[in-house]
Amino acid sequence: MAEQGFEVEGIDNAKAGIEKVQKMAQERKMKIGLRCICAQEFDYGKERYQLVYSFWTFNFMPRQDFIAILPKIKASIKPKGCFLAGVFTVMDNQKCPKKKGYRKGHLFGLNQLLKDFIDFRILRYKEGVYNDPGHPPDFRPHQHAIAMIFAQKIK
Ligand SMILES: C[S@@+](CC[C@H](N)C(=O)[O-])C[C@H]1O[C@@H](n2cnc3c(N)ncnc32)[C@H](O)[C@@H]1O
Repeated sequence: MAEQGFEVEGIDNAKAGIEKVQKMAQERKMKIGLRCICAQEFDYGKERYQLVYSFWTFNFMPRQDFIAILPKIKASIKPKGCFLAGVFTVMDNQKCPKKKGYRKGHLFGLNQLLKDFIDFRILRYKEGVYNDPGHPPDFRPHQHAIAMIFAQKIK
């Protein structure tokens, strides 16, 4: 997005996540506003963003935390602005079994993200299986059960 001339802000609650994006931005000589902060504590503001984008993060917080920030996220989007996200679904337990205690968050129920944005115009919604090529700490390819949404604020 920044490479295409958009003004971009990003948050992550882990220093390592911020440093990774900082490095990428420096290599590409891009300016991105980055903050190490929990999504639950971030001040989203009112009608500030044309697009709010999040991939594979909301499933790492309890459902009640997501419910609490949902109205703030919606309010932060400009009229006719969009929300784009990907989350892991309940089917992920079959696709990608984790060690006990690994998950501090929640897995989205089937159609849940769709219902969460039912007051938006749903431009795309998809549930399925994503082939993950692997990442630290275990680089083996694996699969995730996912839901993805692209929705537009009506007014
Ligand atoms: C699976 S990674 C996805 C990273 C990136 N979105 C991507 O697609 O490559 C999940 C990221 O969410 C961050 N995260 C987890 N819980 C968070 C929270 N409550 N607030 C902000 N960031 C969080 C983690 O630190 C991690 O960087």
